[in-house]
Amino acid sequence: MYMKYFLLFCASVMTVDAEKRFHMKQVIILSRHNVRTPLSKFLNIMTPKSWPVWKEKSGHLTAKGALLEGYMGEFFSEWLKKEDLLKNGCPTEDVFYAYANLKQRTKASAKAFVNQAFPNCNIAVHHSNTTDPVFDPIIHNKTASFKNYVVKEMKAHLKTLKLNNSYDFLENILDYKHSKLCEKSHQCNLKTDKNNIIVEPGTKPNLWGPIKIGNSVADAFVMQYYEGFPMNNIAWGYLDNQEQWIQMMQLSSGYHDVIFNNSVVAMDIAKPLIKYIADLCLGQGEVPKVTLLMGHDANMFTLLKGMGFKRYSLIDQHEHIPVGSKIVFQKWYDVVTRRNLLKINFIYQSKSQLRDGTPLSLNNPPQFELLELANCEIDTNGFCLWSNFEYFLRTLISK
Ligand SMILES: *[C@@H]1O[C@H](CO)[C@@H](O)[C@H](O)[C@H]1NC(C)=O
Ligand SMILES: *[C@@H]1O[C@H](CO)[C@@H](O)[C@H](O)[C@H]1NC(C)=O
Ligand SMILES: *[C@@H]1O[C@H](CO)[C@@H](O)[C@H](O)[C@H]1NC(C)=O
Ligand SMILES: *[C@@H]1O[C@H](CO)[C@@H](O)[C@H](O)[C@H]1NC(C)=O
Repeated sequence: MYMKYFLLFCASVMTVDAEKRFHMKQVIILSRHNVRTPLSKFLNIMTPKSWPVWKEKSGHLTAKGALLEGYMGEFFSEWLKKEDLLKNGCPTEDVFYAYANLKQRTKASAKAFVNQAFPNCNIAVHHSNTTDPVFDPIIHNKTASFKNYVVKEMKAHLKTLKLNNSYDFLENILDYKHSKLCEKSHQCNLKTDKNNIIVEPGTKPNLWGPIKIGNSVADAFVMQYYEGFPMNNIAWGYLDNQEQWIQMMQLSSGYHDVIFNNSVVAMDIAKPLIKYIADLCLGQGEVPKVTLLMGHDANMFTLLKGMGFKRYSLIDQHEHIPVGSKIVFQKWYDVVTRRNLLKINFIYQSKSQLRDGTPLSLNNPPQFELLELANCEIDTNGFCLWSNFEYFLRTLISK
């Protein structure tokens, strides 16, 4: 008798195709702003060479960045309509809600996204007018023992890095021996100069020294590449093959690993953001169907590490958290088992989609990478049980 029902159940699982079986119920998009101008104020003392000129102010979203983020908006709108989560027309705020950090690049990225996702709807982008704790990637724990712990962890992490080849390459590109840093401040050797650790409650963990220089320069080069500068202007023509890019970008991933790749520190930094997302996931009914959160790579690095995501790697990308990339939490309903499910994708533009400014659509989508939480094991469809996720979230935020 039971066997008969069991077989019937299996047969129905096999005949309902995936499109009818899984219904999208809610989506939370945590995004990094799109292409911006370089951030570092010190690029000019790192090389005697002159840097290509940008039209926009330092740290601002560029016109190309707005165009690219608009393409993301178009794609998400098409996708979420296909899944029946959004309808045609202008969504109200109980359906779609946009929230950005107060920086120009995050507000302008969110605006570009919503303007293309919902043309002529004039969707508001909410933001705080003073430092926003949800997006501010600072150390919250004020105790001396926590500070000592962070410093110790960062020191240990610095020791494990093997960046000598990257430093040789960088010194050569920059003509570092003739930089002001070398000539005036006598910091002339990236391989042996000291990395200083800066850890204070209420600020972002930081470094000053060779690895910070490497990260700032790598960031400037990668933005030049996405923005579409001619290849002979990017790194003054020194970056022309994949191995060289890898060598360069190891400085960036090394820097981010040292400051963010520790789950205790990451959780301390990302807690307000994780709490905000947890409230959206645990909320009963009154939460928006779609939420767009526009922040920074620091928000995504710390959320990934703090929540205990398994490692992932991106195809056709220079960065771990590319500009415009998104961690996309999706709640689905399975009509066969009558259970809610969670799927999380990392959705991003490939380096050629960014550089070439490729419009996106269902037929020409951005890249999807499946993500998995260590505490919520996924099945072959990429789903984990929503109830497990809820349990995990409650445990995490009560710590
Ligand atoms: C920020 O300032 C704008 C313009 O004054 C205002 O409309 C908005 O409500 C403010 N936002 C918050 C969160 O206070
Ligand atoms: C702050 O850090 C200390 C030392 O690591 C830890 O014992 C304490 O629980 C932390 N406090 C909070 C509020 O996280
Ligand atoms: C990197 O180069 C410096 C200077 O030549 C040397 O002292 C150091 O041992 C090298 N580090 C590694 C990991 O090879
Ligand atoms: C972070 O640390 C883990 C070990 O905790 C290591 O396996 C990984 O390569 C590091 N980097 C990233 C980007 O995850």
